Amino acid sequence: MAVLDIRVLGDPILRERTEALRAVTDEVRALVADMFETMRAAEGIGLAAPQVGRKERVFVMEVDDDPMAMVNPEIIEREGSERAEEGCLSIPEIFGDVDRATRIVVRALDAEGNPFEVELTDLAARCVQHELDHLDGKLFIDYMSLIKRKFTARKWEKEAVNYPGFIRKLEPGKAHSRKSRSRSKSADPAAPPFEPEL
Ligand code: NI
Repeated sequence: MAVLDIRVLGDPILRERTEALRAVTDEVRALVADMFETMRAAEGIGLAAPQVGRKERVFVMEVDDDPMAMVNPEIIEREGSERAEEGCLSIPEIFGDVDRATRIVVRALDAEGNPFEVELTDLAARCVQHELDHLDGKLFIDYMSLIKRKFTARKWEKEAVNYPGFIRKLEPGKAHSRKSRSRSKSADPAAPPFEPEL
């Protein structure tokens, strides 16, 4: 397994649509394993293939200690709507409110290639919707108002200098909490939940 580089905003691959996989091969399983390792190293709760420079229609997530890999995912039911703040491992230090369905049913293949359906709510449902957007070249900042997007673009201009070539390098075993809002998951149970990076 390996920790992969994360592509950040500005890399064109984040704007490309992925291609459905015809089979879950050993190569796909290796990608899934690397993506789990990368997501954990970055302290995120979701990671989609384009974020590591790949075009497979695959993402991984881990909400409430429940790791899931989804290949060729599609949402077949959705209901409810809730506005909440999101972040993205490919757009560090940027956060914004996004409306998402609060309950969804997803159909996908697992890492063994077996089809499954799962009902998810709240943060897990939000995570799937964010990752599915990645597979279609869409980012959470696309939902922002024009004014907020302009403000974000200016903030990102300053932030992006930290990522030459639109590459975010992670070092295994080193914490990568965000600078401005870093909070340990276990340090203070009374602390409000931090914005998820997906
Ligand atoms: Ni993301």
